[in-house]
Amino acid sequence: MKTLYWKDNHLFIRDQTKLPAEVTYFECETYQDVIHTIKTLMVRGAPAIGVAAAFGMALAELAGEDLEKVAEEIKAARPTAVNLFWAVDRVLDAKSKGKSALDEALLMFDEDIQTNKTLGKYGAQVVEDGDTILTHCNAGALACVDYGTALGVIRAAVEEGKNISVVCDETRPVCQGARLSVFEMQEEGIPVKLIVDSAAGRLMQEGKIDKVIVGADRVARGGAANKIGSLMVALAAKRFNVPFYVAAPKSTFDEGISIYDVEIEERDPDEVLYFGDCRVAPEGTEVENPAFDIIPSDLITGIITEDGILDPI
Ligand code: MRU
Repeated sequence: MKTLYWKDNHLFIRDQTKLPAEVTYFECETYQDVIHTIKTLMVRGAPAIGVAAAFGMALAELAGEDLEKVAEEIKAARPTAVNLFWAVDRVLDAKSKGKSALDEALLMFDEDIQTNKTLGKYGAQVVEDGDTILTHCNAGALACVDYGTALGVIRAAVEEGKNISVVCDETRPVCQGARLSVFEMQEEGIPVKLIVDSAAGRLMQEGKIDKVIVGADRVARGGAANKIGSLMVALAAKRFNVPFYVAAPKSTFDEGISIYDVEIEERDPDEVLYFGDCRVAPEGTEVENPAFDIIPSDLITGIITEDGILDPI
């Protein structure tokens, strides 16, 4: 089941805010609907956001909108994942060469799956039979069109016949690990355990984790940006000599800038104040809710891409 698909000139997005309880698709009729799904995390994960944005441009094209103006609006939906900007600019470039936005979006849809499968095969080379792999957030099929990056590596290793088990950090505040990564691994029949975020160091200290593989929202000079909590996992991995890999397609690379110049999204305090519908802190509590961490290059063992495993930049 794909994260999103195009049908009858509308974009259908699997609503990830409702997973795992409900499997429903949200129908986007306008580019504003697509912006809404990105802002509310109905669609999330760097590659999925990029492809959704490209289809947003296609919806705007069909409605006869000014694409330059729409591009700016779509780019403002979320600031950290570079795939959003990359995808919108790629559609504008295709338009300037006489192609349609829809054709370019459909091409990006197909490319995403192929890229992840190639990336997965490279990544599987570092995965050994019997490994237990810790992952943070969801860099799976749900974060892409299909197959996934970090979870794509796990899928590829399993397809090669390796016995792998997975440990998922729950990934507070919105629990992409618990709700999405565990769900994906269970659907595949891959052995999976859920831990609270703060247990990751403990498991590494006990020698229960062989490798960490996470995704990225941006890879730039000096490191990678990924879901909040990734930095603490990387620091613990360094301390306990556990290899820490980032799996990311080249569309997530932004080589021209320093990772410290990437805007880190600050999200709604309610994500922290509530656990689901249950309020967990007193009225009047002040909150900081940065959505992403910066992982410095010296904590990264390698970056798994569709071009092979690269050194951090
Ligand atoms: O806030 P999210 O859920 O969009 O954050 C997603 C992540 O941090 C992923 O790890 C990253 O986008 C890579 S997805 C292949």
